[in-house]
Amino acid sequence: MSATLQKLITPLFKGLPEPPRNKVTVVGVGQVGMACAVSILLRELADELALVDVLEDKLKGEMMDLQHGSLFLKTPTIVADKDYSVTAHSRIVVVTAGVRQQEGESRLNLVQRNVNIFKHIIPQIVRYSPDCIILVVSNPVDVLTYVTWKLSGLPMHRVIGSGTNLDSARFRFLMADKLGIHPSSFNGWILGEHGDTSVPVWSGTNVAGVNLQTLNPSIGTEEDEENWKEAHKMVVDGAYEVIKLKGYTNWAIGLSVADLTESIMRNMNRIHPVSTMVQGMYGIGEEVYLSLPCVLNGGGVCSVVNMTLTQDEVGQLRDSACTLWDIQKDLRTSERAVGGDIFKLCNRAALLVLSIETNILLNSFSHCYYQNKKRTTECGLKM
Ligand SMILES: NC(=O)c1ccc[n+]([C@@H]2O[C@H](COP(=O)([O-])OP(=O)(O)OC[C@H]3O[C@@H](n4cnc5c(N)ncnc54)[C@H](O)[C@@H]3O)[C@@H](O)[C@H]2O)c1
Repeated sequence: MSATLQKLITPLFKGLPEPPRNKVTVVGVGQVGMACAVSILLRELADELALVDVLEDKLKGEMMDLQHGSLFLKTPTIVADKDYSVTAHSRIVVVTAGVRQQEGESRLNLVQRNVNIFKHIIPQIVRYSPDCIILVVSNPVDVLTYVTWKLSGLPMHRVIGSGTNLDSARFRFLMADKLGIHPSSFNGWILGEHGDTSVPVWSGTNVAGVNLQTLNPSIGTEEDEENWKEAHKMVVDGAYEVIKLKGYTNWAIGLSVADLTESIMRNMNRIHPVSTMVQGMYGIGEEVYLSLPCVLNGGGVCSVVNMTLTQDEVGQLRDSACTLWDIQKDLRTSERAVGGDIFKLCNRAALLVLSIETNILLNSFSHCYYQNKKRTTECGLKM
């Protein structure tokens, strides 16, 4: 074999192989993870795809199945392992690992189980790809994006939640369907929480610049005789209905994640409704992640568009923030004990470091990884 290879090919360079330049990792190879992976492969966005999961047989099977399709793809390297070293040099890491909703279960109900899973995953990702952008998909996505930000120590613009990108896509499909046009020609945004308190921005809905609220001033309200608000109700209920029918949702989220990946990989400065840290915007005082229109490029979320919202829409956005904060508050409280333990341990070992400029791994018990960032005690407490 190697003699044949030697006869066939004359190497001109004997150094180490080039590291990948556009590597994407997907953590969690369940229904959502594989839909993301396939959508990213088909859009030819990565020169290497890495998959990670705790289920070794499933992971190997998925990797082999995709590798067997290599002839039809433009991603030359597809790798998988439960060890995170396989993810090294990733530009984007898409996190889909965790439990999903059962029939009738709300996204917010999943929180503690998935936080525990993230405590294991996030430090490993940052360890092997300290410059990556993390795109969180697992639910409840806004809370888990916040948790990821805290666990990773990455700057906020490099920790993004898929947020209401999917809700907005559902909205645009449903509205466009009623209007008999393609979803890309109906402009409408769903902001706030990805979930039950999401906010439809009826004041901004338009087709070819024609604002629907000027045509129908009560659009989206209880008073609207045409009942357009039903479209938003269908967005909120849509995931529950799909889960009831087929057990999970995966294709639409996979396609939408590939779209976000494209904006980042190709440095496009496209605007998407994704989950970002919104403290200080629209009068939101809490440190929460929720969706606003964000400009996405190679660095992550480079800016947020200040949408002109009505008072009612701003109120709904704040309610969305309160819902999320209520959950995060409890996480914080329950983890204060953990934070306390960290600092007791640190004190004993004379390792209490409050101003962190370099990478410091505070013991594996805490699972807390700080990266290139001034992050003081608060971060440890919120782990
Ligand atoms: N943000 C969105 O719009 C959106 C849409 C649909 C689903 N989701 C969420 O995506 C998540 C995944 O859904 P799914 O249908 O793929 O579930 P799934 O059960 O099919 O897959 C989850 C995968 O995560 C893996 N996993 C569990 N713990 C892990 C760990 N510690 N490390 C690595 N992998 C681990 C499991 O082995 C499994 O393969 C759920 O939280 C779901 O609610 C989000």
